[in-house]
Amino acid sequence: MLGGIFGVVCVSQIPAGVVREGLRRLTYRGYDGTGLTYLDEAGNIIVRKSPKPLNEASRDINLDNIPSSIALGHVRYASRGRPVYENTHPLTDCENKIAVVGDGVIENFEEFKEKLERKGYVFVSRTDTEVFAHLVEDLMKEGSNLLEAIAKATRELRGVYSIALLVRGIHKIYVVNNEQSIVVGKGGECYYVSSDMPSLYGFSEEALILGDDTLAEIGTEAVRVFDVKTLSEVKELTRKRIKYSPGTFEKAGYPHYMLKEIYEIPEALMKTTYTLMDKYLRLASMIIYGAKNVYVVGTGTSLHAGLVSAYYFSEISDVPVNVISAAEFPYYALDNVSTGTVIIAISQSGETSDVIRSIRLAKQRGAVIVGITNVIGSRLSLESNIYLPIGAGPEIAVPATKTFTSTLATLAILATYTGLHTGLTEKGDLENLYGKLRNFAKELSSRLSVIDDNVSVIADKLVGWESLYVSSSGINYPIALEGALKLKETALIHAEGLQLGEVRHGPMVLVKEGYPIILIKPVEEAALDLYNKVAKEALSKEAKVITVTHDGKGVGDLIEVPYVDKTISPIMTAVALQLLSYRLGSKLKRPIDTPPGLVKALTI
Ligand code: F6R
Repeated sequence: MLGGIFGVVCVSQIPAGVVREGLRRLTYRGYDGTGLTYLDEAGNIIVRKSPKPLNEASRDINLDNIPSSIALGHVRYASRGRPVYENTHPLTDCENKIAVVGDGVIENFEEFKEKLERKGYVFVSRTDTEVFAHLVEDLMKEGSNLLEAIAKATRELRGVYSIALLVRGIHKIYVVNNEQSIVVGKGGECYYVSSDMPSLYGFSEEALILGDDTLAEIGTEAVRVFDVKTLSEVKELTRKRIKYSPGTFEKAGYPHYMLKEIYEIPEALMKTTYTLMDKYLRLASMIIYGAKNVYVVGTGTSLHAGLVSAYYFSEISDVPVNVISAAEFPYYALDNVSTGTVIIAISQSGETSDVIRSIRLAKQRGAVIVGITNVIGSRLSLESNIYLPIGAGPEIAVPATKTFTSTLATLAILATYTGLHTGLTEKGDLENLYGKLRNFAKELSSRLSVIDDNVSVIADKLVGWESLYVSSSGINYPIALEGALKLKETALIHAEGLQLGEVRHGPMVLVKEGYPIILIKPVEEAALDLYNKVAKEALSKEAKVITVTHDGKGVGDLIEVPYVDKTISPIMTAVALQLLSYRLGSKLKRPIDTPPGLVKALTI
């Protein structure tokens, strides 16, 4: 249920165009569906929705002139349930008394859905959000008042999410926040609620930031904020002035989508850990464990994620996988595909034609497909036997960033599940990994701007070079390939990713005075000797050596990143190289979000 929420409650009719404009500013958060709910004159809940992006949906739904003084709008990014009418927000309880729209992920929704279905509640969608409406409905039937029921539902439903509700006959918007971004503003006779601050520009001068575990009751007179645990009123509220200029809405104040999406990595990682569902991970890992042979296919950045997965599967679960570009797969790998083969197909868009072609060919030979994608409803999700949505949220910049790191997290989790079958991991390892990923996401969020400053200074030193090397060994070797790809796409210079040992088998010939060579210091003890040798040889040729290091030590100029364990290391070093590519591209004034001649999904 990722997406964007925009709501408004006014003394008289909602001014024309407000909801549509608010949602337009949030379209970067989702384009798999658009919906609206409002109260009619009699106080009844009216729902209008369409499984289409805002610009298409607004032909079917009148978002401009809403015949009401209270409404909630939503744009959807499908993270659970395909982009079809039933799964589009708003979702209601059985009696059409409560309508909800949401952003985020409810981790344990299935457990509650089953309980509520046993009690006779009828679910019409496959989303996690719908459970919120029915749970509030149930709690009220059991005797809770509305506020108690909303607070209790929020306490029971774990995850990271914000949900806004309209209730029949009540001229108020209710909002709960569980570690998500959601803000409230006031302008003229109206109060507004939105998933981000910039979208309130022009509607309100300041935004009230709703904290974690809070419940807000927004009427035309006042906003009251309660603690969901105690239902006591929260008096100390954070307010911020809204100072974004028009035109930066979609980028939330960032100059480019790419930078915004890099800064969203902590949030995306958190969402990945909540989006992946235990039952599908169990199924996928069981199939992988039982496979005769396993191929991992993808292209570009997704291929690099696949290459990291070979280290994960080998070390965490002792299952060998063959990683191959989906563009090359049909030419030799296909011969070894038959019943019993499993293909792990990775594609953030889920539409890359090489990937789709490979899985179709493999399926014809009896293979089972495990798809990993960021887009539910994509061809990959529809044609896989089982798919795992990474839930990173929409990625707009052509250079892939947050989808790469969320794919890595997904692959580490999948390998750990697979280890449960081979006996190499236990349930505790799984909990440990989830904990590590979530802690890392929190730490990264507070450290990102420091790393960015460090990287920016290094990027200055690369200006003027048309070619460079990026190299590493061990689990960070694929990140050297990925870093080089990102530099090519973003800074539009030639960058070559190399295995450390390979640098000495020819490429060193080009290394000369000032030539940039970026080394990711290996996390494997055994590879450190090689790192030191290559760094020394490069220095002896007076090259510009730059080291990405976790321990604050290394040769040449340093890009220092926090110390993390080996599984997380490629996620961390990838972020550093994404920032470096971005900063260099920005200094060179490249069209970062739309590199010339590249498209987000190569579908033909
Ligand atoms: C990298 C990039 C491309 C894509 C590749 C695969 O920044 O944009 O290399 O990674 O085209 O795309 P998906 O993952 O959508 O299959």
